Amino acid sequence: MKTYNSFLEFENIPCGVFVLDKKFNVAFWNNEMTRLFDITSKEIIGKNISRAVFLDPKSNPYLPLNIISCIDGSIGSIFKSAIIRNSNNIDTLVFISAKFFKDDQEKRMMAFVTDISSEITCKSTTESDFAFLNDSPISKIIGNDERFINLHRLIELASESTANVMIIGESGTGKELVSNAIHYLSDRKDKAFIKVNCSALSESLLESELFGHVKGSYTGAYKDKIGKFEAANGGTIFLDEIGEISPMIQVKLLRVIQERVIERVGDNKEIKVDIRIIAATNRNLRDLVTKGIFREDLFYRLNVFPIYTVPLRDHKTDIPLLVSHFIEKFNQQTGKSIKGMTEDAFRIIMDYCFPGNVRELENAIEHAFVLCNKPLIDYDDLPQEIRSTNSRIGLCAEVKSENYFEIRNVKPEVSISTIPFKRKLITKEVIENILQHNNENRTETAKILGISRVALWKKMKKFGME
Ligand SMILES: Nc1ncnc2c1ncn2[C@@H]1O[C@H](COP(=O)(O)OP(=O)(O)OP(=O)(O)O)[C@@H](O)[C@H]1O
Ligand SMILES: [Mg+2]
Repeated sequence: MKTYNSFLEFENIPCGVFVLDKKFNVAFWNNEMTRLFDITSKEIIGKNISRAVFLDPKSNPYLPLNIISCIDGSIGSIFKSAIIRNSNNIDTLVFISAKFFKDDQEKRMMAFVTDISSEITCKSTTESDFAFLNDSPISKIIGNDERFINLHRLIELASESTANVMIIGESGTGKELVSNAIHYLSDRKDKAFIKVNCSALSESLLESELFGHVKGSYTGAYKDKIGKFEAANGGTIFLDEIGEISPMIQVKLLRVIQERVIERVGDNKEIKVDIRIIAATNRNLRDLVTKGIFREDLFYRLNVFPIYTVPLRDHKTDIPLLVSHFIEKFNQQTGKSIKGMTEDAFRIIMDYCFPGNVRELENAIEHAFVLCNKPLIDYDDLPQEIRSTNSRIGLCAEVKSENYFEIRNVKPEVSISTIPFKRKLITKEVIENILQHNNENRTETAKILGISRVALWKKMKKFGME
């Protein structure tokens, strides 16, 4: 039996850590696991993990939670709350984070178990703990909700192709994080990644920012300047707040997409560019198209591969994980060593609607760091607008979800059959997602996936989707 010297540094940390081998026998079990379960490492190492009872806190009465079957090999991770029942029948509420990894070509699973029964602590259950196993850019996007697993998959798919991607979602939902992940997972990761906020500049400044200009082309153009499209050559350009661009810039952008050439302002020399375009918006672009504000042809060309980010109120179960993540981040930034949050503070956070999504949660924790001198963030450390009932009611009354889904029912006019997808990534969720985007049209879905209709049918049959 292989000994796990590499995990010995986890022996005494204040968080339960265990490692399973491919047969789900325990290969490492630290002291906190012994405390939680009242089972020593001597008793369990080499034995099946089923000896340790995990229960589903959402069931009533509690049903066993088979942590092994939660971890489908294709998903590779779980983040969920569970109840541990020890040998004396004492229950403890915990948060379990687990991930598959490979060691000497053998598949194994490592799990962190945090006791959250008395207080929410940041001890050691954030994704960053797994950084040494997998520091994929996707791991920076925290979320354990089903929609996040789907989001992670779509990011992987998008990074495999050079199709234009449109990221759609409310402010603060991680659109920029998604664009980062797509670029840094793609073949272009060592080339430029240029971000442009399209709403921050006037029309003429944005034009010169994107396309560059030649000396004397307008007052203030003292010398030649290369634009962001040229700077991004070979790499990726991220056009944030794309819904804000003027009709003139829309025409010029359409030309870049169709002909892959640009001209600097004041010059008519064509310059070839090889760029991958990722755009983002928090507006309902379809609506802007209907109102004549956004060109329909441009919309279809940018919206080849739409990705929707999720408002925080729709994945509140991820709040504990996000809180831990931000506490750890600000501990590192400020040198403080805040351990977590009191129950009072945590209840307020869980009850709030977060119109500003994850960014607002992050800001709230940062605010609390300024005030908090104790090991746990308390109610009083949180921003006033989150604590005050009146402001909460006011802020949350206005929260409504954009009907972005309308977009899904519109069929793209451009041919997207050329996007190369890696076949191993064509999973059930991916097929479901693409079918949904295409009005359940299988011919279109097969085309997007780059497989034949028959191959799609076979895959759907295999996944029991008929
Ligand atoms: N799922 C997440 N996991 C970790 N951090 C997140 C997540 N979502 C958002 N954040 C953090 O929240 C902040 C806002 O995210 P980001 O800038 O990507 O949002 P956005 O959708 O681009 O917002 P906007 O539309 O306002 O530009 C960032 O600090 C980001 O790191
Ligand atoms: Mg943004």
